[in-house]
Amino acid sequence: MATDVGEVHATSGNAGSDAFTVFHKLSDFDWLKVLAVSVQHEVIEGVRFPRFPADQLQANFVGSANATALHEAHQFYAELKRQASAEGSPLQADSRILDFGCGWGRYLRFFWKDVRESGLFGVDVDPDILSTCMQTGVRGKFARIQPTGKLPFDDGFFSHAMAYSVFTHLPEPVHMHWMQELARVIRPGGTFTLTLEPRRFLHFVAELGTKNTQDNGWHEVLVRHASSIPQLLNLFNEGKIAYLPTGGGGVRSSDVYGDAVVPLSFIAKHWTRYFEIVDYIDDPARFWQAVLVVKRRVA
Ligand SMILES: C[S@@+](CC[C@H](N)C(=O)[O-])C[C@H]1O[C@@H](n2cnc3c(N)ncnc32)[C@H](O)[C@@H]1O
Repeated sequence: MATDVGEVHATSGNAGSDAFTVFHKLSDFDWLKVLAVSVQHEVIEGVRFPRFPADQLQANFVGSANATALHEAHQFYAELKRQASAEGSPLQADSRILDFGCGWGRYLRFFWKDVRESGLFGVDVDPDILSTCMQTGVRGKFARIQPTGKLPFDDGFFSHAMAYSVFTHLPEPVHMHWMQELARVIRPGGTFTLTLEPRRFLHFVAELGTKNTQDNGWHEVLVRHASSIPQLLNLFNEGKIAYLPTGGGGVRSSDVYGDAVVPLSFIAKHWTRYFEIVDYIDDPARFWQAVLVVKRRVA
């Protein structure tokens, strides 16, 4: 049986092809449309797509679900690709990309069009969400890591790495640990694209102190830290990470996971031994969190 979904042809028949073969030439915007269709249709143009976890599980990890979660991710995905190309390291069939803190595999679904399956890798500290990735059929190799462990990859293994909404949660010692470990596995010239919580996040938490937060679990947790904002702003202004030890449940205890606001001066001071800063975009009209693009220096 075939169903017409806009210009995308969804079927429920055999599904033996992979997305790289069938969709590689598709524009990034048309690929977003295909992925949005895959929320409802498992087989599209003969390719079996990964299923989506329950809406609440998706939202627990990324704040939204299905097409909304994909649209948000698409902005960052397209920026990562644009910046990597501009740096002379475009995402290609034989690239190897690491999604650090991959959650339910939102981003690996996008890269499936650009990179052969053998070049897709996801790591996370949460074994349950990695099981979800595998059970739903997200393509790539997955590995569980410890909150301050090692990445199970050789030096210089990856041409690209990304971390969306991960360094936004790490206290300074954990941040420093993973920055150095990621520097180890990214090859010279390879790009690392990530998000950071900018200064405006601290103002957002301070404002929550003047509002009724009862209807929003996340705001409820944050507002408990509203009275610490003046001290946290001082730390930020001194070039230090302002960390709210909110915790994230399960393996994400508050000593390794919370809400972290990172000044660009901290990056300039601590990262530039390993990475060249390519771009820092703090523009809420484009990205909910600030986007940092760095390039691995030649050792
Ligand atoms: C807010 S979610 C974002 C998920 C995914 N990056 C996305 O945007 O779809 C943060 C993810 O980072 C993972 N995480 C937290 N601490 C980590 C660490 N130290 N190392 C790797 N992953 C971590 C969490 O388990 C979670 O899956």
